[in-house]
Amino acid sequence: MLEPLLQLLLFILPAYMANSTPVIFGGGTPMDFGGKAWDGKRCLGDGKTWRGFAAGMAFGTLTGICESSLFGNPSYTYLGFLLAFGALTGDTFGSFFKRRLGMDRGHPTFLVDQLPFFAVALAIASPIYLPSWEGIMVLAVATYFLHAGTNLAANRLGLKKVPW
Ligand code: CTP
Ligand code: MG
Repeated sequence: MLEPLLQLLLFILPAYMANSTPVIFGGGTPMDFGGKAWDGKRCLGDGKTWRGFAAGMAFGTLTGICESSLFGNPSYTYLGFLLAFGALTGDTFGSFFKRRLGMDRGHPTFLVDQLPFFAVALAIASPIYLPSWEGIMVLAVATYFLHAGTNLAANRLGLKKVPW
């Protein structure tokens, strides 16, 4: 059975919040503290900061808390926390991978910018809830286009230097 799209989007919303709020609230000390990896390139780069990570955790979990009270189901709070943690960790792995490929911060990619946050969020939240395979496919496609659309909007609004 395919879950209604709205239900799928409400489920993944904490991951979206965790992935997008660092654009507004991030900055300051980078998560790699400026450190370089074995290849002489930055471990993660200046685009991954502790403040961004903390903001993503806070807003992602807060989204879960709101869903909990909206639906009268306390497990949305824990789900929100797990989705936020997964999204931020996946995004950080994505940057690590991009740096190892020699791409500078903000370099556009096909899939590496849009997928790791989504995949790791799903994986970490899966002990609590995992949509059907059809649902995951629908969400993956929706996430790809939403990511592209919101990043373009963030660029037009002056929040992001690059439109991807
Ligand atoms: N951000 C942050 N901390 C994080 C994640 C994101 O401060 N943990 C902020 C940074 O200002 C970053 C912006 O959100 O520039 C957009 O995030 P993202 O697109 O993931 O980073 P990029 O700058 O594109 O860097 P990368 O190439 O490493 O993905
Ligand atoms: Mg990026």
